[in-house]
Amino acid sequence: MEELAPAAACDRQVVYAPQIQELLARTEKVFRVDETTVGVSDPDLMSAVVAARPVLASERSVFKPAAGADIHHESATGTIRALGQDVAASVRTPPPPPHLLAGAWPDVATSYLRRWLYASDALPVSLLSKRGVTRSDSLSKLVDQAVAVWPGADSGGTALAQQIRGASSTRDRKQAIALYRRASATLCDGVAALAANALWLMNRTPTYTRGSLTPVLWETLRLLPPAWMLFRTGGEAYTALHPAIGPGDDIAMFPLLMHRDPQYWSDPLVFRAERWSGVSDPERTPGFMPFGFDGARCWARHLVVPLAERLLEVCLENGVTIGDAQRETHIPLRSLLSVRFEAEVRG
Ligand code: HEM
Repeated sequence: MEELAPAAACDRQVVYAPQIQELLARTEKVFRVDETTVGVSDPDLMSAVVAARPVLASERSVFKPAAGADIHHESATGTIRALGQDVAASVRTPPPPPHLLAGAWPDVATSYLRRWLYASDALPVSLLSKRGVTRSDSLSKLVDQAVAVWPGADSGGTALAQQIRGASSTRDRKQAIALYRRASATLCDGVAALAANALWLMNRTPTYTRGSLTPVLWETLRLLPPAWMLFRTGGEAYTALHPAIGPGDDIAMFPLLMHRDPQYWSDPLVFRAERWSGVSDPERTPGFMPFGFDGARCWARHLVVPLAERLLEVCLENGVTIGDAQRETHIPLRSLLSVRFEAEVRG
């Protein structure tokens, strides 16, 4: 069990999955995770691994192949553009009712964001982002088929939905449907995880108010980065980079460990948003890479932080708090690192 302290006072603890706890206890920056995986938390080596070769199509998350074909660069950039337009349009509209933020986080935050961003899409497209549907493979397939046949009226709805309607071939339409599903999920799940981690770390500290949330989010991205591990399948490209890396070794890189390295951070386990005051470009800070390294940097990072900030503002305006009785949170072993808690709405 590890204690993370906000600058003011800490009365809550984070309990990590045993595998993550083991990693946090490591002091070496290059180490063996298992027979076929080398772990790395050294910033220079991580940066060299990422630069050694482009990400393989199969290693991508949002833009991995769909409908039996790679995603073209124009479809990928069009998707990010559409995502940006939809986020900008949504944050200008009133948020959904705040009582919907009560309950089990980060799940309620994911559903809240999906409703805020994608509820304007007509059926059946809006089902592509419904949690009840996305959790079931068979329902997802049915909805995909329905959207392929009936992508909706010619106007209205989100820019992501327009990508589906604008597709010029059956395969393009199938890919656009997959991209709607993946992009909306990545956005809502990632921002919900980030906002949940921020609410937990803020720990009701009264100095963190509307207007001071950007540094809170950068400090959250340091201590509890949702993208806590980056993975590369092994190959010749990496063996020359470090003697511990063999030709058959996969590489697991850990921003989570790098962000707590005392070589780069004073009081690394202390949550101190003030670190980021006046820092104009946080991603140029040594030992800090919450959105990846040059060569595979996150395409959506410019919209993730503002959306999380808007969600946190809604939480503060409406008295969303973590129940007094909750003294610890468990972080399970998932690809997105997120605390779990029950929220109350007191506003
Ligand atoms: C809280 C939300 C997010 C976080 C923390 C995050 C973090 C990251 C990180 C750490 C990387 C580097 C991955 C690697 O090197 O293996 C990355 C890459 C990437 N991210 Fe994000 N991301 C988020 C949301 C999104 C969203 C919403 C999208 C788009 C729908 C997106 C699209 C991408 C793309 C396209 C890449 C480049 C990797 C590639 O070439 O496929 N990310 N992101």
